[in-house]
Amino acid sequence: MASHWPENVGIRAIEILFPSQYVDQTELETFDGASAGKYTIGLGQAKMGFCSDREDVNSLCLTVVSRLLERQHVKHSEIGRLEVGTETIVDKSKSVKSVLMQLFAESGNTDIEGIDTTNACYGGTAALFNAVNWVESSSWDGRLALAVCADIAVYAKGAARPTGGAGAVAMLVGPNAPLILDRGLRATHMEHAYDFYKPDLSSEYPTVDGKLSIQCYLSALDTCYRLYRKKFDQQQKDTSKQPASLSTFDAILFHTPFCKLVQKSVGRLSFNDFLLSSEEERTKQFPDLERFNTATLESTYFDRDVEKAFMTQSANIFASKTKKSLLLANQVGNMYTPSVYSGLVSLLISGPAQELVGKRIGLFSYGSGLAASMYSISVTQDAAAFEKFVSQLDYVQPLLNSREKVAPEQFSALMEVREKNNHAAPYTPTGSISALFPGTYYLKDVDALHRRTYERTPTISNGVH
Ligand code: CAA
Repeated sequence: MASHWPENVGIRAIEILFPSQYVDQTELETFDGASAGKYTIGLGQAKMGFCSDREDVNSLCLTVVSRLLERQHVKHSEIGRLEVGTETIVDKSKSVKSVLMQLFAESGNTDIEGIDTTNACYGGTAALFNAVNWVESSSWDGRLALAVCADIAVYAKGAARPTGGAGAVAMLVGPNAPLILDRGLRATHMEHAYDFYKPDLSSEYPTVDGKLSIQCYLSALDTCYRLYRKKFDQQQKDTSKQPASLSTFDAILFHTPFCKLVQKSVGRLSFNDFLLSSEEERTKQFPDLERFNTATLESTYFDRDVEKAFMTQSANIFASKTKKSLLLANQVGNMYTPSVYSGLVSLLISGPAQELVGKRIGLFSYGSGLAASMYSISVTQDAAAFEKFVSQLDYVQPLLNSREKVAPEQFSALMEVREKNNHAAPYTPTGSISALFPGTYYLKDVDALHRRTYERTPTISNGVH
């Protein structure tokens, strides 16, 4: 049976989008009256991207999908499945996917499966898995799939506000991909929790129990990692390869609500490796940590000694396998569903492509409420194909550098406009159109029946940005 599957199914192209405006986190500390260093050092955030009332989840997805198809010269008729993952809901019935079908109207291609998936920041991973599963299934008709994730992460004034952000990612999925999802190596953990949720359908803001959300994130990480290790070891059992550990990955990426949590997460995985290692391995690989021999996972989510010891122990691993993936998270903030995929883009643009050829990347995706998966991606051995794939991302750093800084006062005023007019109808947004990047779809207006109309800022010469 396996021989009939298409080979090397995964990500053939990836496109990222972030807001054209940001607020500086040092300035935000002062504006909010927070102690200096709380957002920048304590949370590890430098800048936070945000959208005015000119952008919503539909416009972000229209922009990112258009750009991907244009940049990759993919015909609309070549797409057979389109999945959207988002938690930014503007309509309780009409999907974002159905809005995106406007882009396919001219081509006449309406034969496109897939719809929206929602569970906090996990929807993007569900979209990607659905797209990959379709290509590997008996339903596949030989065309390509698109997995799209987009969110506007905004919080009410208070402790959570500096952990906002926004963005969108579109991934073209098909066989013979440069980034191949490893078969049989997905470890999932789902359970019921009220750590972060959006029960007030009239508001964009979540209800958050910050501390509980961190505990849920770390405990889902523990469970997924242990399960991944088990599945990896089962797959390798006929070979003499080392059992799974942090060494299994050449890079390891995480859903990133704020960068500091990711550094702690690498420490947490190292703590898991420690607890799962033999006495002999402990002495060799974890010198001077025997005082934690009797520590348990459950009792240590907020244990400062364990946290500090294993962050120190794993500092080199963090520096070599994870830090590069935090570029966009540090500069834009939490994108919710695209977050872990912004980590993938950050890694891809962070150094010479050759260094990643043939390597294994681990990914941890977390959505509150809660749904989480750890899985891995193998980078193709075809260096030329991979370099070409990565070179398509050459626009990311210049685009990031070209953003406009906005004062916290103006950011706060724009948040109030969003807050006041969320779901207003009829409504004409007031946010600046000239501040948007070229080729950006924006909300033109909402009519009395809540129907949204979008327009696009002019593209520049190559038709893309
Ligand atoms: N200089 C340096 N560091 C400082 C500082 C200063 N002046 N002041 C405070 N700090 C440090 C603190 O010591 C703390 O670090 P440690 O935890 O390492 O000690 C850090 O800054 C944050 O300070 P607090 O813990 O006091 O922050 P807080 O409680 O006011 O808020 C938060 C932090 C709970 C994360 C809040 O921002 C929040 O609720 N955010 C939204 C929820 C979230 O992001 N949860 C993450 C997991 S859930 C998830 O992943 C899904 C998702 O995307 C939402």
